[in-house]
Amino acid sequence: MLLQVSGIIKRFGVDPILDGVNLQILERERIGLVGVNGAGKSTLLKIVAGEMSYDGGQIFKSKETTLGYLAQNSGLQSDRTIWEEMMNVFAHLTQAEADLRQMERDIADPAQMEDEKKYADLLERYAKRSDWFKDHGGYEMETRIRSVLHGMGFGEFSPDTPIATLSGGQKTRLALARILLQAPDLLMLDEPTNYLDIATLTWLEDYLRGYSGALLVVSHDRYFLDRLVTTIVEIERHRSKKYTGNYSRYMELKAAEYETQMKQYEKQQGEISKMEDFVQKNIVRASTTKRAQSRRKASTKWSASINRWVI
Ligand SMILES: Nc1ncnc2c1ncn2[C@@H]1O[C@H](COP(=O)(O)OP(=O)(O)OP(=O)(O)O)[C@@H](O)[C@H]1O
Ligand SMILES: [Mg+2]
Repeated sequence: MLLQVSGIIKRFGVDPILDGVNLQILERERIGLVGVNGAGKSTLLKIVAGEMSYDGGQIFKSKETTLGYLAQNSGLQSDRTIWEEMMNVFAHLTQAEADLRQMERDIADPAQMEDEKKYADLLERYAKRSDWFKDHGGYEMETRIRSVLHGMGFGEFSPDTPIATLSGGQKTRLALARILLQAPDLLMLDEPTNYLDIATLTWLEDYLRGYSGALLVVSHDRYFLDRLVTTIVEIERHRSKKYTGNYSRYMELKAAEYETQMKQYEKQQGEISKMEDFVQKNIVRASTTKRAQSRRKASTKWSASINRWVI
């Protein structure tokens, strides 16, 4: 289990928007979060991302689990260039690279060799740092950046383009590119397909299908969800419900649910009208009985008094 959301309550004012919402996310799970406009999808994502408070319930997440969240219509605001901003995702690697270059200079310095113990330490530190750099994708970072930028439609852009000069839609796409490079254990995307053309959309679908972490995606694009997710969580009337399968499967299950509910309703309606019929008949019968009884009572009294007179 990567993350567990249990009984979340969120109110804006008096009425709850979320009223006991549950959500479990397993490693590598692909979840589509759906619901009508205003159902509370973005609210739930913000809460899980730790960007919004909540009024009840709990969220369990292990310390090591990394989360990435891209808000609905969020463009990247930055003073950097495209390349600088993407490289900044790998700041830990560029720092390691700088350390390695420094160590190489030290190793090549004849003065360092005078103290054998110190020199052996330096070599060992260098080997460790070098392995770490390699294991964390240090040699692939530039290729990864180029590939994601190309996929997100920035192939023709100079890497030196200042982000401030990009359009709103381009800033949104760049924000998406950056979060893909961050590659968190759980990637939460709120309507990521807005502003994407077909080529970019197809590239994103393929990229996310091969993504090694878990996904929680809000989208109104059913084809996108169909290709990507294996679980649908629906927020309806402030509560959550889980459906296993892609979006088409969810629609089938919803249709079947609706039919069962309709049948139940019709059955109930049938029972109600039978009951009403029964009540009506019995009201008549009851009143007839009452009338008959009072008639009988009246007639007994009358004959008793007659008898008295006669005697
Ligand atoms: N900060 C806020 N203050 C007050 N009400 C809010 C706030 N944020 C959201 N709401 C309300 O909460 C409800 C849920 O909003 P939310 O944005 O989570 O819906 P959504 O499911 O993401 O909708 P959409 O599909 O349109 O993006 C809406 O009625 C919205 O007006
Ligand atoms: Mg929303």
